[in-house]
Amino acid sequence: MPVDAVRRPWRAAAGLVLVLAAGLAHPQTAPPTPQLQACMACHGPQGNSQISTIPSLAGQPKLFIENQLVLIREGLRDVPAMKGLLDGVKDADIVRMAAWFSEQKPVAAAQGAPSPAQFQRGQALAARGLCGSCHLPDFSGRAQIPRLAGQHEAFLLQSMKQFRDHPGPGRDTIMAASLYGFKDDELADLAHYLAYAK
Ligand code: HEC
Ligand code: HEC
Repeated sequence: MPVDAVRRPWRAAAGLVLVLAAGLAHPQTAPPTPQLQACMACHGPQGNSQISTIPSLAGQPKLFIENQLVLIREGLRDVPAMKGLLDGVKDADIVRMAAWFSEQKPVAAAQGAPSPAQFQRGQALAARGLCGSCHLPDFSGRAQIPRLAGQHEAFLLQSMKQFRDHPGPGRDTIMAASLYGFKDDELADLAHYLAYAK
């Protein structure tokens, strides 16, 4: 029997292993656009932020990220930290970045256990505000509606205050209306609950 015929099946098997490994490693593949490295300097490795006032992007719905990037690029959502960063970035690159972040595995920012009393108050307020009707009952978000589960508590609180007090032209008005009348300490309870929600 020629040596080659013996080797070939092994070669095929080795090829298959490589294909499978590439498939499994998919979410870890190199970021598809040059901008992504700069994004991760603030939004954290794979989009899991390590800074409490900067939102995690990992696992956010693709459409939500796309919409926000367009709003930020056009100056309709004011994010001073990102000023100029998206100037000239093409729609196709925005779509690619959004797809990449949406495929990364979200890691909950909150450490340890929640305060039981505050968690329960936040849970009751979220039920009263019907937050899960849009953000989904597990707060994982969908389409243009963001994931809230496991997001940084400080970011959740500051962004809710912004929606309630100065929503700005590019921001969703029904979302802003949902927070109308909530007091500061109630927003803090909501932020605590959502940061630990699973
Ligand atoms: C210098 C730090 C910094 C850099 C670099 C940066 N961002 Fe941001 N980004 C922020 C901050 C801060 C916010 C939140 C602003 C706020 O409070 O509303 C934000 C918000 C966002 C949001 C809205 C998320 C949400 O949950 O509301 C998206 C999407 C986003 N950034 C994507 C990107 C992408 C993509 C890049 C790279 C092209 C990038 N950012 C680079 C600081 C940064
Ligand atoms: C009618 C649907 C709807 C309801 C009800 C709603 N939201 Fe939202 N929420 C949205 C949308 C859409 C956005 C994205 C905002 C934008 O695009 O301007 C958002 C954004 C947010 C954000 C910003 C997150 C980020 O990453 O930028 C927070 C925090 C939030 N909602 C909390 C809540 C809470 C708490 C409640 C209940 C009191 C609630 N939402 C009820 C639709 C809703």
